[in-house]
Amino acid sequence: MKVLVAGGTGFIGSHLCTELVERDHEVTSLSRNPTSEDAANLPDDVTLASGDVSDYGTIADTVDGHDAVVNFVSLSPLYQLPSGTDHETVHLGGTENLIRAAEDGDIERFVQISALGADPDGPTPYIRAKGRAEEIVREAALGWTIVRPSIVFGDGAEFLEFTKQLTTPYVTGLPGGGETRFQPIWVGDFAPILADVLEDDSHVGQTYEIGGPQIVTLADATELIYEAEGRPVAIFPIPMALTKLGLAVADPLPLIPFGTEQGESLEFDNTVATNDVTTFGINPEVLLTLGAYLGIRSGTPREESRPLA
Ligand SMILES: NC(=O)c1ccc[n+]([C@@H]2O[C@H](COP(=O)([O-])OP(=O)(O)OC[C@H]3O[C@@H](n4cnc5c(N)ncnc54)[C@H](OP(=O)(O)O)[C@@H]3O)[C@@H](O)[C@H]2O)c1
Repeated sequence: MKVLVAGGTGFIGSHLCTELVERDHEVTSLSRNPTSEDAANLPDDVTLASGDVSDYGTIADTVDGHDAVVNFVSLSPLYQLPSGTDHETVHLGGTENLIRAAEDGDIERFVQISALGADPDGPTPYIRAKGRAEEIVREAALGWTIVRPSIVFGDGAEFLEFTKQLTTPYVTGLPGGGETRFQPIWVGDFAPILADVLEDDSHVGQTYEIGGPQIVTLADATELIYEAEGRPVAIFPIPMALTKLGLAVADPLPLIPFGTEQGESLEFDNTVATNDVTTFGINPEVLLTLGAYLGIRSGTPREESRPLA
């Protein structure tokens, strides 16, 4: 299968590119300015293409000629946005352009990487843009699948870095005591699921919610991250109202990475209602845990996390 991975140089996209090459697919990665560093992170067989999904003219020719498109293009909700960017342009406008290019090129399959809670009427600009993008995908004249993962962890994952930037070792305050709940899944467990989605037409027209083996609060993640470094941490709660006030003040300050949207994101959980990893023959309990990934809890090694043949 000829697969175009939009955002293939990113954290999750690069793992899918590798998985697809290992399964003998022909892979092209699309991003704005692929560098030699991006090339070094991807298998030699991946073709690097440049284009900006917010500009249809820069992507249409690249999309044409593929059998499938996977959309990983992202503007992170974990940090304040770089000036001149917004979720609507990248997540909604970018999806519209990719879908249009895929329809123009008679592409058969389209996989949209969305987010838990995606909702056109949701509480944050990211969640609303993801929800509206899902509507565009569902109306498209091609075989679509939508995948909504919880937090994805692994080497280079933004969530681990985000948690460290938000906290300090030994004693740290966390908004609302860090009770926001996540269901992190290891990228090494997630990428094969996405490859399965592409290879099996029974996934057409489905929306999947994908989570890991455990529910972990922000406080749990903070403790795990510092424990892995041999540094304990005591957590005290910062009232949510105070957090939001502080972040609103930070909004116009470019050197402070967090703002209003990041505070709002911590007000709702990031967990699945039903974990659709079971659709792929996977028992969630055998997936790698965050603690095991960090080397401080027992967990299931990668080889055991796939179903028996
Ligand atoms: N990581 C998580 O924990 C997580 C959890 C839930 C959902 N998701 C979703 O999963 C998807 C992938 O996330 P990720 O963490 O892998 O993101 P990422 O590491 O930030 O990668 C984003 C990719 O998109 C490319 N890109 C950004 N803007 C672009 C544009 N305008 N045109 C073309 N390419 C563009 C980037 O390359 P350039 O910047 O070089 O163009 C990069 O290849 C996103 O849709 C995200 O919302 C992620």
